[in-house]
Amino acid sequence: MSATFEREVEEFTLAGGERVVIRPMTLADGPAVAEFFRSLPEEDRRYLREDVTRPEFLEGFIRKVKNLEAVSLVAASGDVVLGSATLYRNPHGWTRHVGDIRVEVARSCQRQGLGTHLAHALVRYAISIGLDKLVVEVVEAQHAARKTFENLGFRLEAVLKGQVRDISGQRHNLVILSNDVSHIWDRMESLLADFSPSAE
Ligand SMILES: CC(C)(COP(=O)(O)OP(=O)(O)OC[C@H]1O[C@@H](n2cnc3c(N)ncnc32)[C@H](O)[C@@H]1OP(=O)(O)O)[C@@H](O)C(=O)NCCC(=O)NCCS
Repeated sequence: MSATFEREVEEFTLAGGERVVIRPMTLADGPAVAEFFRSLPEEDRRYLREDVTRPEFLEGFIRKVKNLEAVSLVAASGDVVLGSATLYRNPHGWTRHVGDIRVEVARSCQRQGLGTHLAHALVRYAISIGLDKLVVEVVEAQHAARKTFENLGFRLEAVLKGQVRDISGQRHNLVILSNDVSHIWDRMESLLADFSPSAE
């Protein structure tokens, strides 16, 4: 994925006034990100696609960030990570135009707009690198995640019955939300086609 994202840093103010910095994750963030995932309450980890506390998950995650198969943002206050958002992509397969987004926010910072801000930053990035379609996979009970992405224009595309087995072994329907952003590219291309600079 493009390296331009590496320079982008934003500040976000939580409802209580605390300022967090939102920036691309670097390899040096590995231990703080691991600590963040480990600190998520079980209720917030229950429906995540993988057990984010397993060392194998963290090794794989960091390898993907290193190999640019994933671009991850962290929201941090000093050295403490309070939120994470990741865009995954298979750059060579038949879904190479599709990005898959996941977001997690520390319980103490939820419902203050941080999840939306992180997700929005990744959507902007995904469009900037030319992805056509973005997807989010959640289980039906993940109301906050559904709301966050529906607010950003994602819509229900499919429900796969009994597809998910959560960390306690219970089965759930998997909901796939998607956002086709190709029209944004179509619009830019027609603007470029209409642009015919006059020779002086
Ligand atoms: C999903 C998650 C990232 C949202 O983060 P957040 O910082 O609380 O999100 P925001 O404050 O930007 O809220 C976004 C929307 O979700 C709604 N929302 C947030 N928490 C909610 C909850 N517990 N129940 C219902 N709606 C909720 C907000 O009201 C807001 O909608 P609105 O603006 O229309 O009122 C966070 O809840 C989380 O980390 N959950 C656990 C992990 C998870 O499910 N991740 C999703 C994997 S893709």
